Amino acid sequence: MEDRHGHRISYLRVSITDRCNERCAYCMPGELHEWLPREGILTFEETLRLIRIAAELGVSKLRVTGGEPLTRKGVLNFVRELPGISGISDLGISTNGTLLARDVEPGLTMAAALRSAGVRCVNISLDTLDGERYAQITGRNLSEAALSGIDSAIQAGFEQIKLNTVLMRGRNEDELVPLIEFAAARGLILRFIELMPVSTTEVLSERNFMSTFEAKRLIESHYGSLIPEPTFRTNGPATYYQVPQRSQRIGFIGAMTNLHFCENCNKLRLTCDGKLRPCLGSALEFDIMTPMRAGATDSELRDFFIDVVDRKPAQHDFRENYQPGRKMVAIGG
Ligand SMILES: C[S@@+](CC[C@H](N)C(=O)[O-])C[C@H]1O[C@@H](n2cnc3c(N)ncnc32)[C@H](O)[C@@H]1O
Ligand code: SF4
Repeated sequence: MEDRHGHRISYLRVSITDRCNERCAYCMPGELHEWLPREGILTFEETLRLIRIAAELGVSKLRVTGGEPLTRKGVLNFVRELPGISGISDLGISTNGTLLARDVEPGLTMAAALRSAGVRCVNISLDTLDGERYAQITGRNLSEAALSGIDSAIQAGFEQIKLNTVLMRGRNEDELVPLIEFAAARGLILRFIELMPVSTTEVLSERNFMSTFEAKRLIESHYGSLIPEPTFRTNGPATYYQVPQRSQRIGFIGAMTNLHFCENCNKLRLTCDGKLRPCLGSALEFDIMTPMRAGATDSELRDFFIDVVDRKPAQHDFRENYQPGRKMVAIGG
């Protein structure tokens, strides 16, 4: 699938739940949130059908996300189906990590079970190493669970583990170096993400926002100039650098300040309530659940996908069209 701006769509992010065991203020401000009713959520069978159709249309990379995907009952059985879908060659999951160390059966952690189900890459959110701050940012006292989850992921032997840190002035700008050291000690890729306008205005003020440029400057004041790695890419829009005198790689996701952010976008999103979103940073979304439940054939659903891709905007409108009412948890970050 290719849109009218030359974006080739090969990557589908699938949100399987809007629920979460945390309440990160920038994603899901507690006072705003109401869970979607169960019948408003795609069943796993429905989700698998849509993934198969996307794969027929050229999607080869899949990332399971949420909400917190590991809170949904039956997630493991669902994930086990994914590598068997013809065309899917790369399977990842995004998680806050808090449930990865949990045993799903005696002696088998969730992380190990996901790995043996065929998950190759796991992205784990970690904004701070400090337990108290973790509780302030996420609304839950689960720092230890998240850190054990990271250990379990390492033990499980994923091909790639990335830690994602959302940059927040006044919350974690003094932890950039400790987080880099934490990742270095474990051989993990660490990425710093700019806060995006998908929450309430109190959470997303100019005061909280810290650009990737500023984070890079702070990091360079400690380590010296970072060495650009323009040829290293994962599936997303991060730009990567090497920390001098080490083989460590760190990334920056400058959704707000990087004007080239959307150039190579290869993504489409399927929300847990059955909406196809051609772009995270645009309000455009198209309900594919209703026609599917009304009996649409595979061929009709294929045309639906192609039509949505055709409407993919040239770039996101976060900068021009600041809409803090949107909630990342409902979109699937
Ligand atoms: C919505 S979460 C879903 C997966 C999982 N619960 C997790 O926390 O990784 C996916 C990613 O979106 C990021 N995110 C959520 N709200 C954001 C915002 N307003 N700006 C930037 N990143 C955000 C989170 O930090 C996380 O790395
Ligand atoms: S960022 Fe992840 S962990 Fe935090 S509230 Fe959103 S979905 Fe939950």
